Amino acid sequence: MGDKKILCVGLVCLDIINVLDKYPEEDTDSRCLSQRWQRGGNASNSCTVLALLGAPCAFLGSLAPGPVADFVLEDFQKYHIDISLLSDHAQCSFPASVVISNVTTGSRTILHMNRNLPDVTATDFSKVDLTQYSWIHWEGRNAEEQVKMIQQVALFNRSLPQQQRITISVEIEKTMEPLYQLFPYGDIVFISKDVAMHFGFHSAASALQELYHRVKKGAVLICAWAEKGADALGPDGVVVHSDAFSPEVLVDTLGAGDTFNASVIYCLSHGGSLQEALMFGCQVAGRKCGVHGYDGIVEQKK
Ligand code: ADP
Ligand code: FRU
Repeated sequence: MGDKKILCVGLVCLDIINVLDKYPEEDTDSRCLSQRWQRGGNASNSCTVLALLGAPCAFLGSLAPGPVADFVLEDFQKYHIDISLLSDHAQCSFPASVVISNVTTGSRTILHMNRNLPDVTATDFSKVDLTQYSWIHWEGRNAEEQVKMIQQVALFNRSLPQQQRITISVEIEKTMEPLYQLFPYGDIVFISKDVAMHFGFHSAASALQELYHRVKKGAVLICAWAEKGADALGPDGVVVHSDAFSPEVLVDTLGAGDTFNASVIYCLSHGGSLQEALMFGCQVAGRKCGVHGYDGIVEQKK
């Protein structure tokens, strides 16, 4: 694939993370162990992980200029993530999450607000020079527009031999009906435990078997299930599984799913098998759960 990049399309927001050793009682005044700002949003977090793994990557999303945007832009630059495709919306507010991160259990409770920042449209996407990318990942959001974006890539792919085509992945994380139209559009489709449970399934394997008919011919469906690891099902009909890799001490699960997705994409895009990709995804996501934030999830090369 040469120097082609992996592009992630979706949200960037501000995460204001409050670290506590006990989940607070309602209407009490607690002291945090620490507090920090972090660049957040699924696609933005996946870019951080891809960059840490050493994959050239780019982010496409919307931004509302101001001091928060300055913080976020500086952080993108720190990780060498290409942000030349960001679209500015001058009159909008920056989306933010207040996160309660419990170090005793590793749980993360997210309170998210997006007042008026619009998602990227198919018209914005039509300006993207597709020749620069080997893989494009969509965090499921404004699904109708995202379908049109994916159709642009499918059209582009048709003119190319198989090995030069852009791989398309989509993430269906939220239990929102419009997102389910994305199932037949990914070569790789990630669904969350929440989505699986929303459809009435109690395990990743049963969700994959029953939902596989929704994906396109030849596609791979993947479902991560927190401390139970992750499963995947491809066109050969065999469910592949990896156990989770628990860190010595579980401290922070915020973005574990985004880390898993990025690591699976990284491994598959480097020729790994589905089994290898699942294990690698669970290993890196497990390491993430043992540290605050994302630094330290990959052994740094000297
Ligand atoms: P999210 O809730 O962030 O979408 P998931 O809960 O689906 O993420 O977890 C994604 C992956 O992260 C899992 O497949 C697993 O490998 C890892 N993971 C998540 N929680 C834990 C945990 N408590 N212990 C070990 N690994 C975990
Ligand atoms: C983690 C995350 C956070 C963000 C929230 C938005 O997966 O992307 O960074 O605040 O989810 O839903």
